[in-house]
This record gives sequence, structure tokens and C-alpha cells, in this order.
Amino acid sequence: MDFYEVVKKRRSFRVYKPDMPEKEKIERILDAARLAPTWANMQGVHYIIVQDSEKVKAVWKAVGQRRKFAEAPMFIVGIIREKGSGMNANGEKYYGVDFGICFEHLILAATAEGLATCWIGFFNENKIKKILSVPEDYRVLGLTPLGYSTKEKGSVSDRKSLSKIVHWEKF
Ligand SMILES: Cc1cc2nc3c(=O)[nH]c(=O)nc-3n(C[C@H](O)[C@H](O)[C@H](O)COP(=O)(O)O)c2cc1C
Repeated sequence: MDFYEVVKKRRSFRVYKPDMPEKEKIERILDAARLAPTWANMQGVHYIIVQDSEKVKAVWKAVGQRRKFAEAPMFIVGIIREKGSGMNANGEKYYGVDFGICFEHLILAATAEGLATCWIGFFNENKIKKILSVPEDYRVLGLTPLGYSTKEKGSVSDRKSLSKIVHWEKF
């Protein structure tokens, strides 16, 4: 799939078929995340693949959102240590930026593989850490179900126009 087609086709899917994604696809998606750029090339993001049905259920429970999600067969959970990245000249930590770049690579690669995702940022971090035995000094910054959507969605459309967000030469 052409890059721009992938960007337009990526949507947040919340209803999944029970079928487990193929291992080769999962590996290619993870490799796309591995190739993402990070601060000083520190590559601090780790990925926990959750396929055990009991654990998948427990993760859904820890997400616990009111919005209707239909249970996907698996999750990819992204974690990084605050020390797993760098700091800019103002002392701002970059681990969140590194995480976002890697996770978006992963999400776009999943789209290119014909798989559905939904970046989830709202969850009980402590519960997820406990379920997945995540070490104390790691943060869980995002997770996504991975699977096949039960229905198609149109391309991304509800976005601001370029004229509202692009400023040539000055704000
Ligand atoms: C960092 C981040 C966190 C998000 N967290 C959630 C979430 O916790 N629950 C949810 O249902 N959707 C979540 N989303 C999905 C957004 O709601 C969705 O991307 C946005 O509404 C645009 O829709 P689209 O992805 O279909 O284009 C998140 C997206 C991002 C990028």
C-alpha cells in the first residue's frame, strides 16, 4: 500500500473479529516500530505482546472505558523508562516523544498489513503493570488492540484544513 494511502486508511477501530493476526504480520509490524528514530538512537521502547486470552481479558478490564470496545484477540502494549530517552536543552524529557514515534510506526505498519488498531491512552497504568509484570521504572504510555475489524471505515476526514494549522514564515 502506498504511504499516503496508509496514512488515510488508518482509523481507530473498536470492534474486532476473534481471529488472531498472523505471526509474520505481527513481526513485520514490530520491525517497523524497531526502525523508528529515537532521541540519540536510544531505542528505549519495549513492546509486550499479549495473546493469552485470560491476560487479554484482564487488560481490557484495566482499560475499563465506558466507550464500547468489542474484545480484540490480542494487544500490543508499549512501555519505556523515563531514563530510556534523552533531555532537551530546557531539561524536557523526550521519552514521550520517542514513544509516540515508535508507536505510530507500529500503528501505520499494522494498517499497511490490513490490520485494525486503536491507540489507547486511557487506562489504569498500575493495573496493566501488574498484569504484565512490568518493572517499576517503566511507564506504560500506550497500548493497542490488534486484529481484524468487523467493519470497514472510511478514510480520515474529520481534520482541520491546512489553512488553519500551517503558517508560512510567521504565526
Ligand atoms: C495518543 C492517543 C490516545 C488515544 N486514546 C484513546 C483512548 O484511550 N480511547 C479511545 O477510544 N480512543 C483513543 N484514541 C483514538 C482517538 O480518539 C482517535 O485517534 C481520534 O478520535 C481520531 O479518529 P481516527 O483515529 O479514527 O482517525 C487515542 C489516540 C491517540 C493518538
